[in-house]
Amino acid sequence: MKILITGNMGYVGPLVLRRLRESHPGVTLIGYDMGYFAHCLTGAQRFPESRADVQYFGDIRQVSEEILRGVDGVVHLCAISNDPMGALYEDVTLAINYQASVDLAQKAKRAGVKRFVFASSCSVYGFAEGGPRREEDALNPLTAYAKSKVNTERALASLASEAFMATCLRFATACGMSDRLRLDLVLNDFVAGALVSKRINILSDGTPWRPLIHVQDMARAIDWAVQRDHREGGACLTLNVGSDGWNYQVKDLAAAVVKLIPDVVVSINKNAQPDKRSYRVNFDKFTKLAKGYLPAVDLQSAVMDLRDGLMAMKFQDPDFRTGEFMRLITLKRLRDDGYLTDNLEWKNQAIQG
Ligand SMILES: NC(=O)c1ccc[n+]([C@@H]2O[C@H](COP(=O)([O-])OP(=O)(O)OC[C@H]3O[C@@H](n4cnc5c(N)ncnc54)[C@H](O)[C@@H]3O)[C@@H](O)[C@H]2O)c1
Repeated sequence: MKILITGNMGYVGPLVLRRLRESHPGVTLIGYDMGYFAHCLTGAQRFPESRADVQYFGDIRQVSEEILRGVDGVVHLCAISNDPMGALYEDVTLAINYQASVDLAQKAKRAGVKRFVFASSCSVYGFAEGGPRREEDALNPLTAYAKSKVNTERALASLASEAFMATCLRFATACGMSDRLRLDLVLNDFVAGALVSKRINILSDGTPWRPLIHVQDMARAIDWAVQRDHREGGACLTLNVGSDGWNYQVKDLAAAVVKLIPDVVVSINKNAQPDKRSYRVNFDKFTKLAKGYLPAVDLQSAVMDLRDGLMAMKFQDPDFRTGEFMRLITLKRLRDDGYLTDNLEWKNQAIQG
């Protein structure tokens, strides 16, 4: 069996490689990434991609059908992965997250790939009042990023068949340590702020609802999805991935950090514009289908995992909100320094080819 993982050199990818390597030792794992954040490592003992059998360096917008031949499953993580980047690079977000995703799925289907797992997001619910959102509820994608996820889900639904099973995992917001950390995620930001400056600056008034999931648990869910039985859920299955216990308001997340890291001051922005993203999510369907692969990490352990990971890195940057672990900042620097074009292509690609 061969599994191709796109976007494996980001925040979630290293955990997915590790999980699939451990649970399927005999499987051939193939990575595919253009390495925007490959240099943003956190002191890993081992190059994360050494867990793959093959690593391609390439742009998903130009992926060749050749590399999909003989592949059984695709895990599609590659994306411009948050709202701020989507706002600054709207066309690129559409091109990578939607058009290239559909193109990849079409090529995969033609090449005989049997399973396609897509990393979607709970941000498709946008601003939602009136109880936890179920998969069938109306969507309210408010940003280019969220819209790209909805459009890809729809395209996958029309491509899926018994021979080409699609699973769209609408992940809650990730948190936790990774070999390639992101600090532009709410809990990660709070723990970093608490450690380096004894402050948590909540950008909103603290009331928005934000379900979370630990990156290790995202990897567990992906492990389930690459082997799920089509008799449960059918050819195309869309699922909220997270757990009911992790539906928190942003101020509760800050309170959990304060309990574990002493002497931290929390500031709330009382004058903030209402957050455009606020939703609670219902995870019943996932809980019923993915027994044995459900989230196992709790909020307290996630905070400790981040605290210990940052301390092991001797992380001390009080300006981390403008540092290399912010995806938007890193992309912008690469472009400003002349390494990336306005379309976020490597400028030296032709020379390397
Ligand atoms: N982190 C979260 O909170 C979260 C929540 C829900 C869903 N997701 C989804 O999970 C996936 C992984 O998220 P992440 O946090 O690891 O993001 P990330 O930004 O850390 O990683 C994305 C990876 O995709 C690669 N990539 C981007 N454009 C590419 C292109 N044109 N060709 C080849 N590679 C390209 C990047 O180099 C990077 O390694 C994304 O699809 C994201 O939307 C993430």
